[in-house]
Amino acid sequence: MSDVEPLFPAPCSEPPAPSSSPLADEVRTGLQKTPKRLSSRFFYDAEGSRLFQEIMHAPEYYLTRSEYEILDAHKADYLKQFTPDGRPFELVELGAGDGLKTKILLGFFADKNADFTYAPVDISVDALDELVVDLRQKWPDLRLNPRHDDYFNALEQLSEESDARRVVLFLGSNIGNFSPDDALDFYRQLHNRLQPGDLVLTGFDLQKHPAVIHAAYNDRQGLTRAFNLNLLRRINQELDANFDLAAFDHYEVYNPETGEARSYLVSQKAQTVQIAALDMTVPFQYGEIIHTEISRKFTRAQIEQLAQQTGFSLVGWFTDCKGYFADVVFER
Ligand code: AVI
Repeated sequence: MSDVEPLFPAPCSEPPAPSSSPLADEVRTGLQKTPKRLSSRFFYDAEGSRLFQEIMHAPEYYLTRSEYEILDAHKADYLKQFTPDGRPFELVELGAGDGLKTKILLGFFADKNADFTYAPVDISVDALDELVVDLRQKWPDLRLNPRHDDYFNALEQLSEESDARRVVLFLGSNIGNFSPDDALDFYRQLHNRLQPGDLVLTGFDLQKHPAVIHAAYNDRQGLTRAFNLNLLRRINQELDANFDLAAFDHYEVYNPETGEARSYLVSQKAQTVQIAALDMTVPFQYGEIIHTEISRKFTRAQIEQLAQQTGFSLVGWFTDCKGYFADVVFER
């Protein structure tokens, strides 16, 4: 390294270039809206994913246990639906994560010597790598076709490569985090990419006593609170902001008329937050909200309508014993 001054050094006062990334774009636009808004898509950094794993074990968060019960009780029914004619099938899981619930199906299908390939798709390389290592250990003969990609790119590529029946898994009520329009768009896009006879198995959280839903998003250990607040910690870390986490609180309401559980972060005082990487100052009034998440709960009629509006037939309806959750099969 030479210590000679460069010929044209940058002027000392030049500000750093404002950050550009999906999170930066979301924060820049979302915090200028009224009301302020940040998408729950950004919950899942390493800490957010860890907290979500904990939420799934919380006593109030019935969704994971309900879906587990359904997949376990109906694994043989699912295998029958996936193999009506003995054709091999490809199980494409969108947002596979740690594949915890899917392993119930994989283990059963492997025991029955079903002719299938498991194609987990996830945007997180780390999650996908861990899953693959674990699956190779558990079932060395399992055919795997992992994809580190976004959902639709992965589907596009998969459909070019094989003539097996596609069975797309979209579990865990992830569909509940979509707006109604985005959900319609999602199934329409799936419809365009799948072939007649292909299947989609979706986990839908159902409408039920509002107090049960309210408790699921207001757990007593404070995990959901920490999960919601973690978004501000992430912005501090990645965008050099100075959110004081103690000056915001978690607030979640369930509206039984709309079926929407909505999460907010609420400013506990009048304050101003600096986001250095965006060169942005954000004022908050006492009690002002940032809307962070919608978790929609469905009726059977809404799910039937969703299938019908997007060109699918509803061919399988399986619920847990309390009727809290449904894992539903649509056929293209
Ligand atoms: C991932 N998703 C389906 C969860 C839900 O229930 O909406 C995320 C979550 N938010 C708060 N708790 C869990």
